[in-house]
This record gives sequence, structure tokens and C-alpha cells, in this order.
Amino acid sequence: MVGQEKLLEVQDLQKNYGKNNNLTKAIQGISFEVLSGEFLGIMGPSGSGKTTLLNCIATIIQPTSGRVLLNGKNISAFGSKDLAEYRGRRIGYLFQDFALLDNLTGQENILLPLSIHGMDFAKARAKLDELAHFFEIEDILNKFPSQMSGGQKQRVAAARSLISEPDIVLADEPTGALDTRSARNLMNKLKRMNRESGRTILMVSHDPNATSFCSRILFIQDGVIFHELRRKHDESREQFYDRILQLMAQLGGGSANVL
Ligand SMILES: Nc1ncnc2c1ncn2[C@@H]1O[C@H](COP(=O)(O)OP(=O)(O)OP(=O)(O)O)[C@@H](O)[C@H]1O
Ligand SMILES: [Mg+2]
Repeated sequence: MVGQEKLLEVQDLQKNYGKNNNLTKAIQGISFEVLSGEFLGIMGPSGSGKTTLLNCIATIIQPTSGRVLLNGKNISAFGSKDLAEYRGRRIGYLFQDFALLDNLTGQENILLPLSIHGMDFAKARAKLDELAHFFEIEDILNKFPSQMSGGQKQRVAAARSLISEPDIVLADEPTGALDTRSARNLMNKLKRMNRESGRTILMVSHDPNATSFCSRILFIQDGVIFHELRRKHDESREQFYDRILQLMAQLGGGSANVL
């Protein structure tokens, strides 16, 4: 269930790369809120600032100006202890290229965030079993990433992003490297995780197949938000997908030009 509580607030965020003749204004004043339990999508063409935005929220990079608040707390004011807690426990990150460590097994990859940040072993084991069952990866827990398919790798990465029971999962094109079937399987699982466990997800993608699973979508271009779509109560995913395509066509005379 989507609550009324503002979990994440992004306030007038700006990010410039480089300077003088090399200045790129990747994000030019983005503000939005993510409510607890929401599955929010962000769509935009290549180079529109999607990864930059997620990386600012994840504190992988520092914004030029603006603020990000989690549960009302300004994350840029965090000291090192709060920052470590934020990165390790409060957010989970799911990357396009899985970002699994090649020399660790599936299980070791999933448990890695906990071994860094410390968690009771029995609790970790129980959580691992639950996630392995949910993502149907029980049989590959002892395999290395080179022995897994793309879809399996991304389901292992999804389990890793959830092992610390984060407040919010940040996903950057999680289906970008997957075939259609694996992509749909992953999106179905993320949607179920959102609906059944109330897990809040913020996902950027240029793929309407992926974002049609979201409850709301923000559209960005050239570093600013210019449109929002909300899935209606009685709207099927297929109907929402059609509406996304229509919007993309209206915006750029064909989806290929826009996203
Ligand atoms: N480290 C960097 N240094 C300089 N410019 C950068 C850097 N990272 C990104 N940019 C530029 O900032 C802009 C936004 O890039 P970003 O990676 O956020 O886009 P994106 O929407 O994620 O694109 P894609 O869909 O291709 O992943 C682009 O013009 C890009 O070239
Ligand atoms: Mg990107």
C-alpha cells in the first residue's frame, strides 16, 4: 500500500560536470517526492540525467546544489556513521550490469552487504532463504556469476539489494541487459515485492515495458522533469503501457526519437 508518508524528497537538485568549455548541466533543478510504498519510475532519453540523479540520491556522487531528504533528514548533512548506515542499510542499489563480484558465489554476493555492515547470522540466513525462494535462485546460490545466465545474475543482484531490508531500492535500468522474458520475470518479481512487502522502489529506465509496472512515472529530459503519468486504480498494466507509448509518441513524433 502506498502511504502518505514522504520517504524520499529531492529538492531542487542540480548537478554539473566539468567546467568552463567542458561544462555539462546534467541535472538542472529536479524536485519530487517518493511516498512510502510507491513504485516510482523515471523515464528519459539517453543522456537526460537518470543515472546522475540516482547516483546523487545514492551518495555515489555529490550534487552541485539542492537537497535529498530521507525520512525528513538531509543526507548531505550526515556524518560518516550515518552515511555508512544510509549506504549500507537504508538504500539498496540495483545496476544495469548486475555488478556482482566474479570471485564470489551467488550466496556470498547476496550476503556481502551484511558482512560489511554486520547483521545477526541467524537473521541473515533466514533472510537469504526467503529472498532465494522469492527470486527462484535457490539452485544457483553456490554458482559463480560466470556460471549464471543474465536473468539469474540480475535476480541474485536483486536479492543483494534487498538483503539489508532497505527503506528504498534504487534501480538503474535493471532490465537493460536482459532479454524480454528475463526482463518481464524480474519486473514481475519487483512488482510483487513492492505490492506484498510494501517495498519502496525508485527505478529509472527508458523501457516502457519496464516502467509500465510502476504506479507513477516522471519523465525527464535535459535534466528537468517535464511530465508525470499515474497508473489509475482500474487500469491494467497493458493499458498503462499503451498510455506511456502514446505520451512518448506525442512528445517526440515517435518513441525512438524521445526515449
Ligand atoms: N562523470 C561524468 N563526467 C562528465 N559528464 C558526465 C559524467 N557522467 C555523465 N555525464 C554527462 O551527463 C549527462 C547525463 O548523463 P547520465 O549518465 O546521467 O544520463 P542517463 O540518462 O543515465 O543516460 P543513459 O540512458 O544513456 O544511461 C550526459 O550528457 C553525460 O554525458
Ligand atoms: Mg544511465
